[in-house]
Amino acid sequence: MMQSTRYPSLDGKVVFITGGATGIGEALVEAFVEQGCCVSFIDLQAEVGKRLCARLTERFGEARVHFYPGDVTKSDDLREVLALTKARCGDVQILINNVANDQRFDTRTLSAESWYRSLAVNLDPAFFASQAVYPMMARSGGGAVINFSSINAICGSSNMASYNAAKAGLIGLTKSLARDFGGDNIRVNTILPGWVVTERQLNKWLTPEAEQEWMNRVCLKERILPSDVANMALFLASDDARMITGQKFVIDGGRL
Ligand SMILES: NC(=O)c1ccc[n+]([C@@H]2O[C@H](COP(=O)([O-])OP(=O)(O)OC[C@H]3O[C@@H](n4cnc5c(N)ncnc54)[C@H](O)[C@@H]3O)[C@@H](O)[C@H]2O)c1
Repeated sequence: MMQSTRYPSLDGKVVFITGGATGIGEALVEAFVEQGCCVSFIDLQAEVGKRLCARLTERFGEARVHFYPGDVTKSDDLREVLALTKARCGDVQILINNVANDQRFDTRTLSAESWYRSLAVNLDPAFFASQAVYPMMARSGGGAVINFSSINAICGSSNMASYNAAKAGLIGLTKSLARDFGGDNIRVNTILPGWVVTERQLNKWLTPEAEQEWMNRVCLKERILPSDVANMALFLASDDARMITGQKFVIDGGRL
């Protein structure tokens, strides 16, 4: 989707996005490339990521977008991809901690292994990626980190105890990083989406009945699209948000 707003301060910025191959991540990759950024992203889904990269390379040239297949739960993969990003694009100035897995588990029988596996994808990479890019952002004179939480961290939802706990953890992590990195002019904020209509949501969870129930509860009776969320990320990453840090932004059509 073509962006209607242009942020001159984003032009030429180096952006790293986790889980960028599909859904909201895909919209983020596209939106930042359209703003003139050099975007690098990691995702488990190699073929889908390559296709997105090829599509954007055709439109914007190969210097502007780089895809690395990898698993964010493996700290070696994350470190290696960040090193490659630095070598090809330069120091990362904008980090988007988007990756997640919203697998449901019955809370009464959730195993320790599944609990830790969920935190390993939904919480840990946000901390380790932020820590890894900190020196790059500090050297650049500042930067922006955007974490992806969820309204589920506040209102809860069934059979998502580990996901919801991780998403609540990201709100606390945002506060801590904003405090600890603020002296280097690094801003850290969180986005809390409501139910965003992606392919995965349509295929797995968004039944007509569930969508009707959602629509009964929200103020704005339209679907939330990945681009609605990407638009907020662009603003938060830009210099227009230069005094905004440690905050959370809800995009849920008025559900909360
Ligand atoms: N879609 C929604 O309704 C919704 C609602 C609230 C919050 N969010 C949050 O917004 C963000 C994006 O949501 P989405 O719906 O696009 O997510 P998604 O689950 O559809 O996509 C996440 C991406 O991460 C990738 N991925 C998963 N595990 C990985 C791993 N170990 N290593 C590398 N890549 C991995 C997937 O392949 C996928 O491309 C997430 O943080 C999510 O929790 C989404």
